[in-house]
Amino acid sequence: MINSDIAAVAIAAADAAAVIIKRYFSDLAQSNTTEKTCSGQTQGLVTAADVEAERAIIDTIRSALPTHQFLAEENVDGVDQAALISAEHLWVIDPLDGTNNFAHGIPHFAISIAYYVHGIAQYGLIRNVITGDNYQCAKGQGAFENETAVSTSSAADFNQCMIGVGFYYDRGEMMQATLKAIDSLFARDIHGIRRFGTAALDLVQVGTGRFGGYFEYTLSPWDFAAGQLFVEEAGGIVTTCSGDPLPLAKSSVLASNVHLHGEMLKIVSNYQPKN
Ligand code: IPD
Ligand code: CA
Ligand code: CA
Repeated sequence: MINSDIAAVAIAAADAAAVIIKRYFSDLAQSNTTEKTCSGQTQGLVTAADVEAERAIIDTIRSALPTHQFLAEENVDGVDQAALISAEHLWVIDPLDGTNNFAHGIPHFAISIAYYVHGIAQYGLIRNVITGDNYQCAKGQGAFENETAVSTSSAADFNQCMIGVGFYYDRGEMMQATLKAIDSLFARDIHGIRRFGTAALDLVQVGTGRFGGYFEYTLSPWDFAAGQLFVEEAGGIVTTCSGDPLPLAKSSVLASNVHLHGEMLKIVSNYQPKN
């Protein structure tokens, strides 16, 4: 169980955002359309819920910790994000991970909040908005599903595993590369592939041992910040799809238990697009 002032602030922020997201989700169900709530094309789909939830998260944290800074997907504050990466106190926020699910009425999306000090992740919270489950982690203190400590799976062979994947919005080279990597994983007799549509909760599946591994060729820092620490604190490994440490910037992501990382890396690095 993680008890800290930082965790308390993050939970309060997620509570505030969850109220907003659930209200919009219920309105969406009643109107039975994505048209009123969404703007943008498939790439960069934004809803009023994304923006209002981010505003609520930042306002909640800022009222408790006024000097802290925010790297948040919708950038509602309009800050220079590149300048923030090594800030002393930085919160990395995805107010609604799984917007495409949300906009289509699919009840699987999350709030992801991570806290960094000088570029090092200290704490992460992923809230499954529909179930209310909290996935928390803190540097050196482990990873928890609500009150229960979790760990990555002990599976040492692909033929014991479910693997998660995500697709960036690109429908060209990146999607073809992802499909080829999936094909290679099936050739190793994995139990199945899952594409659930929220990177934060995909990383949770690795940390809780439900997925043996997960990869995606392009993610943004707010997609993986909390989930990366969650997997690491659960005993797993997270790198880029080339095997390098993750930057706090747009990156490929490969997360798995310790046993599968080497073999998964061979597969995903083999198909990784150059750009
Ligand atoms: C997306 C989701 C999705 C992943 C995309 C992300 P968003 O985040 O995490 O699962 O495949 O790459 O951009 O846009 O819903 O916050
Ligand atoms: Ca996201
Ligand atoms: Ca988002």
